[in-house]
Amino acid sequence: MTPTVIQTQPIDGQKPGTSGLRKKTRVFMGEHYLENYVQAIFDGIGGVEGKTLVVGGDGRYFNDRAIQVILRMAAANLAQRCIVGAGGILSTPAASHLIRKRGTDGGLILSASHNPGGPEEDFGLKYNGPNGGPANEGVTDKIYARTTELTEYKVVEAAEIDLGTLGESDLSGMAVEIVDPVNDYAELMESLFDFAAIGELFANGFRMRFDAMHAVTGPYATEILENRLDAPSGTVSNGTPLPDFGGGHPDPNPIWANELMDEMYGSDAPDFGAASDGDGDRNMIVGKGAYVSPSDSLAVLADLAHLAPAYAEGLSGIARSMPTSAAADRVAKAKGIEAFETPTGWKFFGNLLDAGRVTICGEESAGTGSNHVREKDGLWAVLLWLNILAKTGKSVPDLLADHWARYGRNYYSRHDYEAVDSDAANGLMQNLRDNLATLPGQSAGGLTVESADEFAYDDPVDGSHSAAQGIRIFFEGGGRAVFRLSGTGTQGATLRVYLELLETQTDQLQKDPQDALAPIISAADALAEIKSRTGRDAPDVIT
Ligand code: G1P
Ligand code: ZN
Repeated sequence: MTPTVIQTQPIDGQKPGTSGLRKKTRVFMGEHYLENYVQAIFDGIGGVEGKTLVVGGDGRYFNDRAIQVILRMAAANLAQRCIVGAGGILSTPAASHLIRKRGTDGGLILSASHNPGGPEEDFGLKYNGPNGGPANEGVTDKIYARTTELTEYKVVEAAEIDLGTLGESDLSGMAVEIVDPVNDYAELMESLFDFAAIGELFANGFRMRFDAMHAVTGPYATEILENRLDAPSGTVSNGTPLPDFGGGHPDPNPIWANELMDEMYGSDAPDFGAASDGDGDRNMIVGKGAYVSPSDSLAVLADLAHLAPAYAEGLSGIARSMPTSAAADRVAKAKGIEAFETPTGWKFFGNLLDAGRVTICGEESAGTGSNHVREKDGLWAVLLWLNILAKTGKSVPDLLADHWARYGRNYYSRHDYEAVDSDAANGLMQNLRDNLATLPGQSAGGLTVESADEFAYDDPVDGSHSAAQGIRIFFEGGGRAVFRLSGTGTQGATLRVYLELLETQTDQLQKDPQDALAPIISAADALAEIKSRTGRDAPDVIT
């Protein structure tokens, strides 16, 4: 069937952020909008003729309808095959795995991650390359360039594909293959971890709560934890993916996963708690009365990963995003392996993973992962923790105490100011930028600035340069404040302030992070003029 060519106009403001393009769902549903962006992706990656793509998403509102459009456009652009998760479902790490396992030309993942879903909430779309990872900046720049000049897109008229039935069908000459979204991923997990040891833990009465937050990991966690590892049924809660995630933010942090936090800090707390986000790439780890900060989780996992079969030979290196605490760096140093500090966004880990320079990576924003896929992976982190708990026989609070006693503790917190006026947020950043040279020596909050800079990154593998990746202020005595604007927000600007302080005195390791960080918090406000410039008294979200 000949494709229909639809005349359209370029749409402004479609610059993909740290993980694809995110917009209000209504914007994506607007006339030609999704179609323009999909055509721009196809053009930006050099066309899809003869190619095979993986397609799936986190099940949020508009997921299924958008997939029908993508399939009809892929057929019109002469793609050979699309591999689609049944029901349109694929977690981000499962999509990454499928792209790699099937040796495809990449995939389209529909998700706005941890942002709420629904007609008035958020939607997103990103392209991952043949290595299974988010497109690098060269590719996203090409996609963006196409959105500014595109005047037509191609689509075929065809009946809807039944996304619910496994098997292969034809769409105007393109094969559509509907696959089980969970199986391949569950098999991969089984190949990495000691399922016998974890199963024994559950058999001996170990209790766990996994909160899927009504998002995509429900079916994955139920299959892996309850079916394959025989955890008691009911271990997984909120396990049915809903288009609006039950009205909540599927964001695994102490604020949005408060149901889980209450249980883990309550009188009948299970031994281990975990949660994942909308599309299954983030994780939250919490022991009995012990929340584990993502930066600490990365450090502990890197330190003890050798207890899992896949990492028994040790790690080649560890990478963390710049705003993530330096805890993982000291683990790398102790192990005599390389440590890397990259800009925010998982795509910056891709080259290091592909080149075999690092095995484990992480971000302060609840993302941890390894070379098994090219995305962060929520359930992977949960299973590695379980593997470590099973092998050491220790509790989460004990493992943390051991870690801090050995390496010191990086007290850490992130303060987010959301939906700030964009001009005010840009002004705050520009003011810091303009004053970088005069900051050293200044005192604020009882601390003295040692140095300040704007983080830039030269990729050690391909040499590409990324400028303006956040402003860092280092204080005498080992504290740090980092300022950057979010690339994933959908309303105004989100200012992120990352606060960190290293403590090595053994009697000072069990403080509340906000108390321990009080001097850094007040110095950050004074130097950046946060309150006066944003008009906010306090952050919207503290993690
Ligand atoms: C946020 C996180 C970042 C993560 C990204 C995608 O981006 O901070 O670490 O990679 O979401 O999950 P930001 O909104 O800060 O640009
Ligand atoms: Zn996510």
